[in-house]
Amino acid sequence: MPSKISYALTLKMKEASPADLELLQLFLLDQGIPIESCVFSEKDQVHKAQIFLSTERKCLDLKDQLKHSSLKGCLFSIKCFDQSEWQDAWKKGLKPFWLTEDVRIFPYGLDVIPAKQHEQALILETGLAFGSGLHATTRLMAQLIEMKRGHYESFLDIGIGTGVLSLTAQHYGAKKILGIDANPEAVSMTQRNVALNQSPTIQVKHVSIENFKTQRTFDFVAANLLTEVLLRNRDALCDLVSPHQYLAVSGIAKENLSELKEHFAQSPLNCLRILEDEGWAALLYRKDA
Ligand SMILES: C[S@@+](CC[C@H](N)C(=O)[O-])C[C@H]1O[C@@H](n2cnc3c(N)ncnc32)[C@H](O)[C@@H]1O
Repeated sequence: MPSKISYALTLKMKEASPADLELLQLFLLDQGIPIESCVFSEKDQVHKAQIFLSTERKCLDLKDQLKHSSLKGCLFSIKCFDQSEWQDAWKKGLKPFWLTEDVRIFPYGLDVIPAKQHEQALILETGLAFGSGLHATTRLMAQLIEMKRGHYESFLDIGIGTGVLSLTAQHYGAKKILGIDANPEAVSMTQRNVALNQSPTIQVKHVSIENFKTQRTFDFVAANLLTEVLLRNRDALCDLVSPHQYLAVSGIAKENLSELKEHFAQSPLNCLRILEDEGWAALLYRKDA
């Protein structure tokens, strides 16, 4: 939980595209701001992001950096919050939620109380890593992993974040799971979540997709990454998939979907499904022999 929060920088964006919101989230992650310190909302086509920080100086510095970023047309305001008020509100706001039909996420700190039979409870801490399970790109990918349950033993999670997708894949039958991430914070957060959920079959490495070298191939490769990273690494992704097995990609803002489809059509990958939600898309492919 964020410790000393007493100020909030509020940012309002009119007609922000999913790509703008993606850019904002990545920018905040880059600045080392935990996702739990941010509240995103939308009303009458105005997107609002509240970023809770410990000092007014931090709010002013962040505002300055955002003004010089490629995000345009933002309105800023800074407000002081009573710390205990915010912490109570933050605790009240924490709730378990369903990621798929039978996988329920319990944000770390909550008691795990199953709601139905055959429910898989996952305890998740996020810290500085992406992957609380609430973002549409994660949910769409989790649906594809659920859809192909029983069709994979080995699972590769590229950009593992908090480990949320690997933990989900394990529930749906993956036995040998490897995750990689370019961000060391993500690697430690996954290790923490692996321990919290007693999932020793999940291994994690600190390496980018660009530097990941292996002879292995996998039954299911999941990559929830920026579109440009997916486009650039299409061949490497394809090489990691076993013949007749699956690649799922997510993190594609709607306006980038046709470019991604066209680029991936020029490879031995056949598109089986496209899922869309909240301006994001995820695609499931099967590799030819
Ligand atoms: C959108 S998050 C996905 C996290 C999690 N898998 C999920 O679905 O919620 C993308 C993750 O990919 C990592 N990442 C970004 N570029 C990468 C690259 N080139 N190679 C490996 N990991 C990368 C980021 O550090 C981040 O943890």
